Amino acid sequence: MLFKNFWYVLAESADVGSRPLQVRALGQDLVLFRRSSDGQVTVLSDVCVHRRASLSGGTVEGDCLRCPYHGWAFAPDGTCTHIPAHPAGVPIPTRARVASYPVEERYGWIWAFLGDLPPEERPPIPSFPELEVPGWRAVRGAFTWKAPYTRVVENAVDVAHTPFLHRMSFGNPDNPVMPPFEVTVKPYTVETTVVLESPRPRGISRWVMGGASTHTVHLAVHLPNVTVLETTFAGGWRMRLLLSNLPVDDRTTLTRYIQLRTFLRTPLMDGFARAFTRSILLEDRPTVEAQHPSPHPWPVDGDVSIRADALTLAYRRLLGRSGATGGLPDGPGGTPSPPEDTVPRTFARDATESSQGRFLAP
Ligand code: FES
Ligand SMILES: [Fe+2]
Repeated sequence: MLFKNFWYVLAESADVGSRPLQVRALGQDLVLFRRSSDGQVTVLSDVCVHRRASLSGGTVEGDCLRCPYHGWAFAPDGTCTHIPAHPAGVPIPTRARVASYPVEERYGWIWAFLGDLPPEERPPIPSFPELEVPGWRAVRGAFTWKAPYTRVVENAVDVAHTPFLHRMSFGNPDNPVMPPFEVTVKPYTVETTVVLESPRPRGISRWVMGGASTHTVHLAVHLPNVTVLETTFAGGWRMRLLLSNLPVDDRTTLTRYIQLRTFLRTPLMDGFARAFTRSILLEDRPTVEAQHPSPHPWPVDGDVSIRADALTLAYRRLLGRSGATGGLPDGPGGTPSPPEDTVPRTFARDATESSQGRFLAP
């Protein structure tokens, strides 16, 4: 189930510039660009209100985005500021606007709030202070799944599968028993810490693991789609994997990751760190993409769960509760409701409200 009343990571900061960037999220097409005046990022609906052209095919002019089809220009707040076909002096219809979304740039990611709650009622962007302190080396990347984001989120914090899907890498097939663990539930977060038996280390991992037989894993899900896995090895080295799992639509997920490490912080190891993260996700992908059914039914029922599933069950419950206020994208299947009449019938003054604003946010 897709919920609009959350902050979602739409792009890497480095990927957004003065050329429009199309991003699909929650089954809807959006366009991102940086304004010339202050470098801030704007997020608009990608669907031009005139004849439905894709605004991401247009051009950024100053702080506005001009549609490639008939040249209408849209300001960062989504209002149309210029219609080239209009004779001089003819007012722009007030309904000539596209949806615009609040944006925050944090941790090198572009976050947009795709819902309709006022600022004081919006869930927070998760806080990751370790991304702003020295001592960690970070690499970034992306990974696509043909699976609903809830499956991807649950997989990320489900360590009971590691002796099986990851038996060739970091899983320990000799001891699949999950030790007892306690789940903490916060307003928008579920988390736990588990002490796991390490597999017999090979090569460089022997040094990273400190030669010990156990390591500690902290797991967290921040609603609705951000997961954190932090491993602390016996010698004190730490590795953290931060995943934003964007629901592109109800059966496609785009995972953006930041992998941080306190060891081997030389840039020479970055390629290895990226390759390691990707190889782990590739070990997961065939199984996650083959789970039945896709998309995830909501609410989830019929699964047989055990004690080892406590964290993912807590996530399901918390997400289910948030569903009451999380809101759903407008329109069937998360596609925008067609506005009844967003095109001016005449060039006469048009003082009615925007109906395009019903696309996700007013
Ligand atoms: S479709 Fe965008 S200006 Fe006509
Ligand atoms: Fe996995």
